[in-house]
Amino acid sequence: MKISHASSIDDSQEILNFNNQAVSWYAQNARSLPWRAMMGETANPYHVWLSEIMLQQTTVTAVIPYFEKFINLWPRVDGLAAADEAAVMDAWAGLGYYSRARNLHKCAKVVCDEYGGEFPQEEKLLLKLPGIGPYTAAAIMAIAFGQRAAVMDGNIERIFARYRHVEGFLPDIKPILKDYTQLYMLDDSVFDPSSLAQALMDIGATICQPKRARCTECPLSQGCVSYLDADLKPLDYPRKKVKERPKRYGVCFIVENDSQGYLIERRPKKGLFANMYGLPMHMEDDEAEMLKRFSGCEIKQNQFVEHIFTHFHLKLYVVKLGVGAFYDLGLFDNINTEWVSCAEIRDVSLPSLFSKVVKII
Ligand code: ADE
Repeated sequence: MKISHASSIDDSQEILNFNNQAVSWYAQNARSLPWRAMMGETANPYHVWLSEIMLQQTTVTAVIPYFEKFINLWPRVDGLAAADEAAVMDAWAGLGYYSRARNLHKCAKVVCDEYGGEFPQEEKLLLKLPGIGPYTAAAIMAIAFGQRAAVMDGNIERIFARYRHVEGFLPDIKPILKDYTQLYMLDDSVFDPSSLAQALMDIGATICQPKRARCTECPLSQGCVSYLDADLKPLDYPRKKVKERPKRYGVCFIVENDSQGYLIERRPKKGLFANMYGLPMHMEDDEAEMLKRFSGCEIKQNQFVEHIFTHFHLKLYVVKLGVGAFYDLGLFDNINTEWVSCAEIRDVSLPSLFSKVVKII
């Protein structure tokens, strides 16, 4: 495949060099991660799938303890499939983007019910499983099954945007970057798809970083257009359009009873933080309206936490209330509650939004 905006270098030699440089670097510098196999050994598809789902929008450092917890609780996919959804949600609490956990559980069930507990080794079939999109399917094909696949995550996008100097803004340039992953990662010279994909992930995470490009240490620098061209700066790429998230506002209630118990709720099975523990809260779109509505609760202007969700930014005021005043609000008559002590609340599996609330109190 020739790409019109690419420079006139000979693609096949260039791709071979790129591949050799990346894989040789990986042989010496691969990060040791609990889901990884040693070079030359085959990775466990269950571990690869679980880690890839956890790593979506989450850092390696944050994922490692969760990955280890899941593997201890459910060493195999059939154990995970048989678990209660609430147990899976509790184990995931704090990792964020909770639809991933719900889909993870659904996917484990489908793999057991339809594929006898073995992940299918075809990208088309992987794509049909809950929670598996093009990135994850390609990553599983390459890392777990050693098949050539065009793996494109944020790290790999950044590498190609700099390496082949792709002007324009994300997300508009995604199709161009996808063409590059296909050109470089599906090429016949790719003899170890698993190492190539993971090499690029590690180079992106440790060398070709968003705010720091350690070009002199980079195994790919001798082919990198934005490094070699004195008029360009690798850090300028990829250019991004700033994403504006709508703002929402809320009040979260710390409800204390006479015996120093605190109210937590098991949230409804649908909606935000579905089926997880939380603290009672109420959200609205308009801050002034909301403050007016809860004016009787003496909201303190400086007592709030902020949290970024995929589709909105939340400013959540935190208010302490007695049980009577809380139920007098008339908003929480049907919630599924439990009382826990101050010591116990630390052990409840709470999403990090609520952990932030507990910390400020
Ligand atoms: N980011 C996403 N997938 C990864 C993997 N398999 N190894 C390291 N970082 C990753």
